[in-house]
Amino acid sequence: MDLTRVFDSAHALHAASVHMPLSLGLLGLPLAIAAFLAPKRWPGVRLFGAAFFLLTCLAAGTAVYTGQRAASELVALANKDIETVVAHHRLLGWSVAVLAFVSCALLTVSHFRARSGGRASAGFATLSALALTVVLLYAGSSGGRLVYGWGIGTSVADGTSGATRIVGGKPADTMPVIPPALASVAAPADSTYTPNVLPIDPAQAASITFTKDIVPLLERHCLKCHGGQSPEAGLNLSTHAGILKGGDYAGPAVVPGAPDSSPMVLHIRGVYLPKMPKDAAELTESELHVIRVWIAAGAKDEQ
Ligand code: HEC
Repeated sequence: MDLTRVFDSAHALHAASVHMPLSLGLLGLPLAIAAFLAPKRWPGVRLFGAAFFLLTCLAAGTAVYTGQRAASELVALANKDIETVVAHHRLLGWSVAVLAFVSCALLTVSHFRARSGGRASAGFATLSALALTVVLLYAGSSGGRLVYGWGIGTSVADGTSGATRIVGGKPADTMPVIPPALASVAAPADSTYTPNVLPIDPAQAASITFTKDIVPLLERHCLKCHGGQSPEAGLNLSTHAGILKGGDYAGPAVVPGAPDSSPMVLHIRGVYLPKMPKDAAELTESELHVIRVWIAAGAKDEQ
């Protein structure tokens, strides 16, 4: 994977940025223990530990921020179960930031109280660092479940049930089957839940044709950049063959039968970035629905 692409996608950015608080937080625990047990042997350990936890707190805040962006893309595609897991994961992220801040504050206090011992605050700092470690492991695990469908304590064999794949590769490589969480978009499991994604109706699919329904949409929104002599990203949307051939990066723009894994749909939703049409008004859900239904029915050209 091209590392500069990390900044193109909120998912990839979050995946990269969560590793900072994860590693910092875990390294912080031995520091807090040293600050409690052996402050004399290493006089600066409490202040050093405080600075360390401040950094962990900032890193956790960054991860929550990037996660917020990744989640807004994910939730647009997902169902109520996923929203609950996302909310839970976000709470864990905030808890990491808060616990890191508490550990930082307690170690600072114990540093300035070193003359009179400061052991009690160092002891509480150790406890809060311990809690931080536990919450971090939970947060990492819940993130793993969200992205890959498995985390600490769940079976790896269940790896197809994640809500999304790491964005960036060709869909055929990274998402051979639509994960159940996305498949349920087509037929929401929970009838009281109305995701902002319209379900696909086979009867409607039969009535949609490439020339009558899809070409005008692409002409209106996309051909300015994806037509002519040198289309953007090598993607020529002005012919059926060009759509199937796809672009330089995302591969074939449609995966026949799988609208919600098709780069065209993922780019229009902004799951793949940049969001399409680039720097222009977004498609309405019903316009996108026409495209999704056409892809679901096989993305055929009637000629
Ligand atoms: C203003 C110009 C512009 C418009 C309009 C536009 N695109 Fe794009 N599109 C781009 C650019 C630039 C890229 C390359 C982005 C990148 O990867 O950095 C791109 C990339 C893509 C890709 C990924 C191609 C690949 O494999 O690399 C898809 C799919 C796509 N656009 C679909 C669409 C669709 C569908 C529409 C209409 C709804 C649309 N675009 C409208 C400029 C545009």
